Parts: sequence; structure tokens; C-alpha cells
Amino acid sequence: MPIVNRAADLQPEIQAWRRDIHEHPELGYEERRTSAFVADRLREFGCDDVVTGLGGTGVVGVIKGKAPGKGDIRSIGLRADMDALPIEEATGLPYASRNPGKMHACGHDGHTSMLLGAARYLAETRNFAGEAIVIFQPAEEGGFGAEAMIKDGLFDRFAIDQVYGMHNGPGIPVGSFAIRPGPIMASTDAVNIHIEGRGGHAARPHLSIDSVLVGAQLITALQSIVSRSVDPLEAAVISMCEFHAGNARNVIPQTAELRGTVRTLTPEVRALIGKRVHEVVEGVAQLTGAKIDLEYVPGYPVVVNHAAQTDFAVTVASEVAGSGNVAEMPPMMGGEDFAFMLEKRPGAFIFCGNGESAGLHHPAYNFNDEAIVFGTSYWIKLVENALAA
Ligand code: NI
Repeated sequence: MPIVNRAADLQPEIQAWRRDIHEHPELGYEERRTSAFVADRLREFGCDDVVTGLGGTGVVGVIKGKAPGKGDIRSIGLRADMDALPIEEATGLPYASRNPGKMHACGHDGHTSMLLGAARYLAETRNFAGEAIVIFQPAEEGGFGAEAMIKDGLFDRFAIDQVYGMHNGPGIPVGSFAIRPGPIMASTDAVNIHIEGRGGHAARPHLSIDSVLVGAQLITALQSIVSRSVDPLEAAVISMCEFHAGNARNVIPQTAELRGTVRTLTPEVRALIGKRVHEVVEGVAQLTGAKIDLEYVPGYPVVVNHAAQTDFAVTVASEVAGSGNVAEMPPMMGGEDFAFMLEKRPGAFIFCGNGESAGLHHPAYNFNDEAIVFGTSYWIKLVENALAA
């Protein structure tokens, strides 16, 4: 039997939680209603310990198996994220967001509910040896919520030998999973540039330092980093997505602002690009005479799946979905702060099919409730197999 029967029984209830959370989306570190909802359910299920307020609004539940842990792996952590996005929902669903300008457009409502469903089952059956630690983190969407929980003692206060994460995947068929060993999602660093030129009359450019031309040269030169400095067999992206300057056709503006993002799949390429961006900015400043301030802000590290734990995740997902329905996927250049947890403990991050839905972060996106039974079964079997009683 692939899926867990009890997870199928619990599906209507998990779906109801999912829709309730969907209706009440909260942004990073503001997940007060959501984390209270999670903590209340975990207490109802009879978790052995429920800790709130970890890393802001994070919640951790401890579920002890019927036997004490044995062997090398005595406890595993399962992680879901709880935050929504600043997007105006356009699904027209009966349970659409009631909070204007906020929406669960990344399916974290589904992630939270599936992990709650697994927690309910695990607390009910306890058919494992050791401890299952369910981790509900705040602020995945750029807010470093995973790092905040770690800094607040996640791995010191709870014995967690391995840690696993899951995200829904639009475009992946429902009932299928996708994963890969090694880098699976990119590092995300931010580039903020302030250009101070010399403003003046459009007809007398020789008396000015044209911040628009400086910005244009910078963007072109920055693009040469990926094409000329990075090994063509390595993946890297530099996207300069904001360019603000000027407000009149006959005035050379004094200042310009550029903002962009850098994505890589290895620490080496990440460091190389950081170094080259600084050099290019200095070079263009010399070339043009403009004063250029660069703020290079480190974001999430590369999400690196550990080989043995990825193999294990594939085995478990194959049990749930059938071995033909677990694909090896190429890496994605999007980011995920689960990277911070994988830097601390071995583990793996997997995608669970969401079917042909709108893409993540799209105003018409919706988590697919038909995926609930698969994601929940995956969590349950992960614990029962890793910590076999
Ligand atoms: Ni997400």
C-alpha cells in the first residue's frame, strides 16, 4: 500500500486546516495566528513537548516514539514554513485571503497543514523508536526564519540528528516527487548600488558625470562576470532588476540606484562573483569618475542535499508514490532558507508534486489539496523508516 491509510482518513481535516490558514495569511515574523493555531493543534494531539516563540514565531513539537532511540539516528527533524507573501490574491476561491495584500502564494499553508497531519498521526501511533521533532518556522520568504530558529537554539535545545524539508512543486504531477543529491537550490545574494555622479544640463554633458551612463556601463560590465569570469560548466545568474534615475528629459541626474540578485550553486562560484562584483564596481568608478557605493548583502546559502539522506528520501518517496514517480530534477536557481538547517545537520529537501497549478508567487497560485495525502504520507514514512521500532 503506497500511501498511509490513516493519512487518507485525515485528509478532510488536514484540508480544512489548510484552507483556514490560507484564509488568514501572515507575513514573515507576523505569523501569530498561524503559530498559535499550530501550537494548539500540537497540544491537542498530545505532543510530549510544544515550544513556541523560537526564532520569533517559530513552533517546535516533540513526539516520542513507543521505544527509546537506538543506533546512530535517534531523532529526526521535519520542517515546514508558515509565512505568506505580500501579494494580492486573485484566485477567487471561497477561502481566499481575508487579509488584503497578503496571500499564501507559495503553498506554505499546505506545508504547515501536511506536517500537522503527520504530527497528529505520529502522536497517535508512536510506531517508532526515538523522537520526531516537528519544526514550524517563520519567515522563509527572505526573512531568514530558519537561521533565526537556529540562533535561538533549535539544534541545541532539541536533539536532532537529521533534518528534512519539503516544498510543493507546480508542474510536477500530483502523487510524484522530485529531488537530487548535492546542490538543489541556489544561494541568493543581494546587490545594492548607489551612484553619485554630477548632475547638470542635458545639453552640457562635458560638465557632468552622467549617473545614467555609469549605471548602464555597470550593468553591462556586471553581465560580463557570468559570461567571462565563471566557468561555463558552472551555473550562475546576475540579474540587475531595478534601475532608478532621473525625472526630466533635459536633466542629467546626479544619482542613480541599481538593485539586483546573484544566484549560484557552489560556495566557490558564490565567492568568485562577490569578489568580481566589487572589482567591477571599483573599475567603473575609476573609468567614469563617479562615486559608487556597493552594498553586497549575503542572503541564503546554497541548499545542498546530503547524499545518503537523499537516497533515503528517494526510498521513502518511492514507497509512497511508486518508484517511477520520483524524478531526479535539475537544480533550481531559486533560494530556500532550509539551506541553513542543512549546514547544521545531514538531511534532504524534496519537492512534492502540485500538478499543473499557477507558479509559486503568482496571484492565481493555489496549493493543491490532492497532494496532501502524499506529502503527509512521506513525512510519516520518513519517521517510521528512519527510526524503525
Ligand atoms: Ni516557498
